[in-house]
Amino acid sequence: MTAPAIRLTALSKHFGAVHAVVDVDLQIDRGEVVALLGPNGAGKSTTLDLALGLSHPSTGTAHLFGGDPRAAIVDGRVGAMLQGGALLPDLTVAQTVALVASVHRAPLPVDEALERAGIRDLAARRVSKLSGGQLQRARFAVAVVSDPELLILDEPTAAMDVESRRDFWLSMRQFTAEGRTVVFATHYLDEADFFADRIVILGAGRVVADGTPAEVKSVVSGRMIRFEVDSGETDAAAAGIPQLPGIRSLDRRTDRFTLVTDDSDLTLRALLAAVPTARDIEITAHTMDDAFLALTAEAPLPHFTKAPHLTKAPHLTKAV
Ligand SMILES: Nc1ncnc2c1ncn2[C@@H]1O[C@H](COP(=O)(O)OP(=O)(O)O)[C@@H](O)[C@H]1O
Ligand SMILES: [Mg+2]
Repeated sequence: MTAPAIRLTALSKHFGAVHAVVDVDLQIDRGEVVALLGPNGAGKSTTLDLALGLSHPSTGTAHLFGGDPRAAIVDGRVGAMLQGGALLPDLTVAQTVALVASVHRAPLPVDEALERAGIRDLAARRVSKLSGGQLQRARFAVAVVSDPELLILDEPTAAMDVESRRDFWLSMRQFTAEGRTVVFATHYLDEADFFADRIVILGAGRVVADGTPAEVKSVVSGRMIRFEVDSGETDAAAAGIPQLPGIRSLDRRTDRFTLVTDDSDLTLRALLAAVPTARDIEITAHTMDDAFLALTAEAPLPHFTKAPHLTKAPHLTKAV
């Protein structure tokens, strides 16, 4: 059996009192394209640094291809693009890529690395003259020049505008079409959905969800129904609502209720029958951002309840 590209086992990292990564178990098989999704401070960069052996875990282990991450890196099997990784300002783009190529055993030709990053036309440009998006592409060329099997990218499109982001992910498809493994951190939900086969959501250093984009979106999709009831009837309404069909969660602030439902038509008909005094009814799409916030909230709202089928998807887990 071949070892997975990445295996993190009971991995934790704290910086003094800050628990950046907490008991993460994660296996990423060869050929997978995985998004590590989470808000700022969720522990994405720390997790990737640990996976690359750039930082030592407080407890637990990180392996690449079944061994020490540094061995895989020395062998040129891993390319990385990290947050804030600096390039020498006075070199040209081609010189930069050639310098990195020179330390690897079987690098790509420099031209090909530039081509893959879509910056062949910038070969002679000095690094100090590059725009933010161009600099990201130059860093991508550096990451791929060793012709790695595994690419680890920390927020690779951070400085790019919408169009450059799309171009970047389209050019990445060429890399993954060849069966290579990609793990990238992002806080853009749409980017994870567009490019990854699997989305691992980190919240406060823990894995809070892990599934295909479709599974993650099944948690995330649905509609919200908001309404009010007369203050004398709130308790009766609160008792009856969880039994209505389609309901996934219920949030109550005094006499204002918010439901998330899989089927707003069905729920609304039943709601009007069960709670005839419901008024000021609003129905809105439950966005990926709403679900993301709910999943990654450090402590769920006291009256935010989740129906059991929220966690029905095979790999979808909710940390408690
Ligand atoms: N070198 C460090 N020293 C102290 N705290 C750190 C250090 N690196 C990261 N942290 C903290 O660990 C947490 C996770 O950070 P990070 O992994 O960078 O998150 P993300 O990449 O998801 O934004 C944050 O609270 C951050 O402030
Ligand atoms: Mg980060």
